Amino acid sequence: MAHPLEELRDAALREINEARDEQSLDAVRVRYLGRSRGISAWGEQMKTLGKDEKPVVGKLLNDVRSAVTAAIEERAQKFRAQKESDALAEIDISLPGSTGPSGRGLSAAPAGYSGYLPLERGSLHPLSQMLERSIEIFRRMGFAIADGPDIEDDWHCFDALNTPPEHPARNEQDTFYLPDGRLLRTHTSTVQIRAMQAAPPPIRVIAPGAAYRRDEVDATHSAQFHQIEGLYVDENVSVADLKGTLDLFMRELFGADTAVQFRPHYFPFTEPSFEIYVKSKALKRGEQWIEVAGCGMVHPAVFEAVNNARGDDAYDPDKWTGFAFGLGMDRLAMILFDIPDIRLFAQNDLRFLLQFA
Ligand code: DAH
Repeated sequence: MAHPLEELRDAALREINEARDEQSLDAVRVRYLGRSRGISAWGEQMKTLGKDEKPVVGKLLNDVRSAVTAAIEERAQKFRAQKESDALAEIDISLPGSTGPSGRGLSAAPAGYSGYLPLERGSLHPLSQMLERSIEIFRRMGFAIADGPDIEDDWHCFDALNTPPEHPARNEQDTFYLPDGRLLRTHTSTVQIRAMQAAPPPIRVIAPGAAYRRDEVDATHSAQFHQIEGLYVDENVSVADLKGTLDLFMRELFGADTAVQFRPHYFPFTEPSFEIYVKSKALKRGEQWIEVAGCGMVHPAVFEAVNNARGDDAYDPDKWTGFAFGLGMDRLAMILFDIPDIRLFAQNDLRFLLQFA
């Protein structure tokens, strides 16, 4: 005669086989394997068995339990697979993708088709491409990336950068002011100050970001444009380091035969100051010198302003020197990609953007 455990096993296997869905299968599992139910109840009865019977029934119990558990798992697996193939059966993979209403994507809808079209693959905006290329070159030279807010106070934008209240850049006609007196930064040089406030020298950072001016918008002026600021402060930093760094940057960007000129200029926050001009045969305007950046040696008054704000003497101008620069990204991209009008960057015209995809 079969042992009651074997009878339980056979009943369980039959019911597992008959289960039509996950729910009824789960009910079977609870009935036979649940705490002190069916098969599990036998675990407790073991204590009452005699010495001879115990090992025999113990083995049987284990065998029955694993047979039932395996059968349940196998059946559950079948239900899961079934569910997946049911879901897939509803998808017609011969239809176009359904990520956008027709006409929104770039591909033309086939004649007479009014369903969904796949969304086109995107690509980076030419300015983003330019930024990524530039950042990559500076990172290779050991510059870290620093950041600051677009909405600034006038101390970071002007005073700390040795720009006195009567300076034209501070005029209401030239800068966007908020009602609370803050402003949209007119250059990324603000991040020089923030970086020095945050950490003592030596420091070697670039700060890519947007800047704003109340310029009359035309082919070369935009109310928002982009810069990469650079700052390097250490012992014995000289104009030679400044020239070497930016010379290498320009030649990496525009090609090895690029000529770079440093022409004396004036900026309040650097002394001496220069404007950088490049000329390269690789560029359409190859035979022309084009101004691409401002730079110079950090003015001692800037270090003093930072020391004041920090409340220490970390940037002692007798001990530390540094160079700074500001590159016009829109400008560089326009030269490199031969783009005639700065407004194209913001107009979102796909005929323009697709040329850089
Ligand atoms: N901030 C200047 C501008 O927007 C550019 C510039 C010039 C940045 C000289 C610098 C610098 O760091 O040293 O016109």
